[in-house]
Amino acid sequence: MEDELTPQNATLKFPEGFLWGAATSHFQVEGHPTEMSTRLSDWSKWTAIAGNISDSTTADSACEFFSRYQSDIELLGGLNLGALRISLNWAVLCPTSGEDGKRSLDMKEVEYYRNLLSSLKKRNITTFVTLFHFCLPEALADDEGWLSEKTAIEFGRFAELIARELGEYIDYWITINEPLPYVYQGYVDGSWPPGQKQHYLNAFKAVRNMLKGHALAYHAIHKVIPDAKVSFTNHWRPFVPRNKWNPLDCLVTHMRNRVFNHLFPAAIKHGAMQFPFPLNFEPSIKALCEPIEGLKDTMDYSGVNYYTRDMSQHSFEAPFDFFGRSWRNLEAEISCMGWESYPDGLFEILTKELKPYLKRSDGKDCPIMITENGYATLFPAHLVEGDWSLTDEFRIKYLISHLMAMHKAIQKGANVKGYLYWSLLDNFEWAEGLKARFGLVRVAFPTQERTLRKSAYVYAKIAQSNTLDPFI
Ligand code: FCB
Repeated sequence: MEDELTPQNATLKFPEGFLWGAATSHFQVEGHPTEMSTRLSDWSKWTAIAGNISDSTTADSACEFFSRYQSDIELLGGLNLGALRISLNWAVLCPTSGEDGKRSLDMKEVEYYRNLLSSLKKRNITTFVTLFHFCLPEALADDEGWLSEKTAIEFGRFAELIARELGEYIDYWITINEPLPYVYQGYVDGSWPPGQKQHYLNAFKAVRNMLKGHALAYHAIHKVIPDAKVSFTNHWRPFVPRNKWNPLDCLVTHMRNRVFNHLFPAAIKHGAMQFPFPLNFEPSIKALCEPIEGLKDTMDYSGVNYYTRDMSQHSFEAPFDFFGRSWRNLEAEISCMGWESYPDGLFEILTKELKPYLKRSDGKDCPIMITENGYATLFPAHLVEGDWSLTDEFRIKYLISHLMAMHKAIQKGANVKGYLYWSLLDNFEWAEGLKARFGLVRVAFPTQERTLRKSAYVYAKIAQSNTLDPFI
């Protein structure tokens, strides 16, 4: 580590051994034939219902990663990237209950992931594997999903089975991806399964079961692989009041920050959920704050997903909503997701907000991995030929400004060990469908042709040299 801060106009050097990679998730890329032919998960069912996906596309084929993974791994290597984040298709891997009523693994499907993961390991690629990336097996989804403790128990069991079968290929485990956005979209906004609206209590009940599931999975993996590196990913978003002189804007900003950013990591730090005043006096919420067995300190590293910040304002609608609503600053530089590019937020998260969670109570330090960060452009799914979207200056600008912020944080002492760009390929972006394109690599969905964008070349150069020239 250099003593002085590097001036931000010089070539920036990253620490030796820094890990550069890309992130994906199974549903968004796979187009898994077993899943899609019988709609085995809540998400494959959800996409089949008209009106749920804004551009009326589905993930039935997505990037056909299921059959194309070998050449996509070649692409990854060609970009000098040494890490890939994938997720496992729980619905496909554990489709039915065994004779004892417990789910067991479908070994044919396990073989698929064994081949995929061993192909990565053969090429010396560090693997990040997520066990729950938003998709539930349909039987669990139909039986209350994360509102039921049964899902947590099944999840712990799934983690143990995977640790036994595939553990040798997994370098970094991610139990659950972004629990708060998941429950927000599913129980408050209603734009993701199970499609409930304004049901904050259910959202918090689901978080409690996700914490239980995380704790069970953490210990199950460690029982099989004592030195496994296990964590979850937190979606971090700085919240700022629309009007800092308005006490109600400040109140909702505070509530959003404590719940959206801190609920999950703070529960892991303390072993129980903690809600901000006055929510903590509400009896049904208080009941959720009982300690969760085995939860405390179940984090070996810190997985950070970062995209944007949120301007928050109160709402005059009755009854008073402690979480207010977002306000979109139309003067800011925003992506097609409506997300403002705000690299300073990444610096703030890495140097300030994360601090309470970087040392466990047993003294163990948790290094930081940036497990997602990226930029989307909007191009309809039917496009095939032409030079559409290849000279993606906005993505390059976003990438460089965020890497500069990360570098500045590292110089300030943040122990960041790696960065995974979201995403390697254009893919299926949940309720937005195929049109919101996050890829370093463009995918022409009708032909599945892959074409490197200019950002891919820029990122490849950074990864190869482990340095960043801010004037690229
Ligand atoms: C994150 C999700 C990921 C992807 C990006 C754009 O919230 O984890 O699957 O959709 O957003």
